[in-house]
Amino acid sequence: MARLTEIGWEEFERLPLEAKKPYLANGDIPDTPFHTLFAQQFDRALLERLARLANRIRFMAKSKEGAMYLKSLLCHKRAMLYFSQPSSRTFLSHLAACQILGLTTGSVRDTAISSEFKGESKEDSIRTFSSYFDLIIMRTPEKGLAEKMAWELSNSSRPVPILNAGSGKDQHPTQALLDIYTLLRSFESKGGLKNRTVTFCGDLMRGRTVRSLSYLLTNFENIRQVFVAPPQLQVPDDVTAILAEKGVEFTKSDNLREAVTLSDAVYMTRIQDEWDESKGESARIDTSRFKFGAEELKLLPADGIIMHPLPRRDEIATCCDHDPRAMYWRQMRNGMWIRSALIAMTFGFERQIMCFGA
Ligand code: NCD
Repeated sequence: MARLTEIGWEEFERLPLEAKKPYLANGDIPDTPFHTLFAQQFDRALLERLARLANRIRFMAKSKEGAMYLKSLLCHKRAMLYFSQPSSRTFLSHLAACQILGLTTGSVRDTAISSEFKGESKEDSIRTFSSYFDLIIMRTPEKGLAEKMAWELSNSSRPVPILNAGSGKDQHPTQALLDIYTLLRSFESKGGLKNRTVTFCGDLMRGRTVRSLSYLLTNFENIRQVFVAPPQLQVPDDVTAILAEKGVEFTKSDNLREAVTLSDAVYMTRIQDEWDESKGESARIDTSRFKFGAEELKLLPADGIIMHPLPRRDEIATCCDHDPRAMYWRQMRNGMWIRSALIAMTFGFERQIMCFGA
């Protein structure tokens, strides 16, 4: 079993993502992540285990008896939510997941009122959290910080797990987990998540949810991926290189309507203009043809679904909201269940939950 204590930071950092996976596993529980940093840590079997656990938690939480049992499981643990980038859903659904499992929580959302403002490094701040908490859920604009901290903490006297809730433009693994959970639930009674076409539309260049979900979809049989974006915001080569290597069929397009007619799921994203290098560069791109409205709704197959990681701006018209194929509200709620499952699994409570009432 590979351990983060057995490899230097520079050597670890250089490994391809898939090769990092064994180092991030829980040494005591087979095939279970300890730190959750990348989508590359999740294979089909693990995704299905998580979905089963999330289903179980979802049903248990409906009864007082089940909810009280869940709440008792991690009442001896505390979680720190360190979110130095804006967040509503990811923050609140992680918080709700902690509440479901009984963890108590603390948070830093504005570094202007923490010691970072006095000049403390992020590394020192995160090490400080590990003194008081048993889990660190973190969202930061810095690519690689979650990974660096996972290595640091594993090599410290308080090796607490790190859960990446969005890092820079590169990864958002728990969003991809909730997206997969939503797809699995949506197609459960319709032949499952296989032989499907998933269309991504919007800012595919800078959207980290797209990178993570595109990878996770490669775990499922015959899922074609279509990337619809203006040329300046098309999906980056590192994403399509993985698809090519894995023999996954994909196409790039600038025609949303054509793609919608052939899609089982359309995954809309907003323009990520917070990453603009020069002021207003996104505003100069014509995005008018990359929006989902009444016309697109007419073209979407009867069994198709519309997804969005949210927040949305105007890329999905509100007239779509009440259509049964609009999955974005349920997708958001699914986040709470799959994050509960991931946290329970991280602390080794999968079996206890699955066996409840048996
Ligand atoms: C996404 C993010 O932060 O990357 N939001 C989320 O976590 N639900 C997508 C976005 O901000 O557009």
